[in-house]
Amino acid sequence: MTKPAPKSNGNASDSILVVDRVSKTFESNSQRSIPALAPVSMDIRKGDVVVFVGPSGCGKSTLLNLIAGFIQPSSGKITLEGEHVVAPGCERLMMFQDHGLFPWLNVIDNVSYGLKRRWFHPTARREKARQFLRMMHLENYEKANIHELSGGMKQRVALARALAPDPSVLLIDEPFSALDTVVRLELYAELQRIHQETKKTIIFVTHEMQEAACLGDRVMVFSGSPGSVIHELRIDLPRPRNYTDPQVQAHAQDLITRLQANPQ
Ligand SMILES: Nc1ncnc2c1ncn2[C@@H]1O[C@H](COP(=O)(O)OP(=O)(O)OP(=O)(O)O)[C@@H](O)[C@H]1O
Ligand SMILES: [Mg+2]
Repeated sequence: MTKPAPKSNGNASDSILVVDRVSKTFESNSQRSIPALAPVSMDIRKGDVVVFVGPSGCGKSTLLNLIAGFIQPSSGKITLEGEHVVAPGCERLMMFQDHGLFPWLNVIDNVSYGLKRRWFHPTARREKARQFLRMMHLENYEKANIHELSGGMKQRVALARALAPDPSVLLIDEPFSALDTVVRLELYAELQRIHQETKKTIIFVTHEMQEAACLGDRVMVFSGSPGSVIHELRIDLPRPRNYTDPQVQAHAQDLITRLQANPQ
């Protein structure tokens, strides 16, 4: 039995992204409907780092895909800065778990690719791409092929590619799950530094509660099938946060307790 979704503490005036009673039911070929997401509402403020956690299949990726505009809600409405989200757009960019880089392009061309819409001149595109490669400490790898990079470096290129077009909202689906611990810890520090520099609104999904507590300002706990938000944890610890900080661990434990109390 799931509890009703908590009311968001955001208020309409400082919200950048509003998810208003959004639900999704997939219609499959076998004519069986799959209710993936029960009506979910949330207000996300500019600069927030919002994390979605919850058991497998509770609709976290579905909600990210709805916000990205890859799929449309069965009911409800998503607005970004007052504009109804009806299709993908470069103000909402998604970074995928498998990095999604183009193997036939080198590092700088991968980062430049997303700039084609906004930065028309090739020289301006390259300069912009270089700026983000420097931010990721990848300035010496701009000519490298993607297959020459480690997993962590590929994720950093993917992050540079997603940030370079200056999206209002960056959407990330389990970005670090395939990486080893040391690389993940480096990327946590990196992501926090970049967030401080760019003040981007970031929404990401993870199964790792300590990661959620280390990086998130707000953690939305999902449960059920169809999924809904059963709890919101606000994390007000100062930044940059250390993954092993006891206060981060305490918040992670709180999240684990919530999830255990609401198994799917
Ligand atoms: N394109 C689709 N067509 C049909 N059903 C889908 C589709 N995408 C997702 N689903 C179903 O919707 C439900 C929610 O899936 P979703 O991928 O959002 O879960 P999730 O919370 O991201 O899970 P995980 O943690 O395993 O990634 C699941 O039952 C899944 O099978
Ligand atoms: Mg998922």
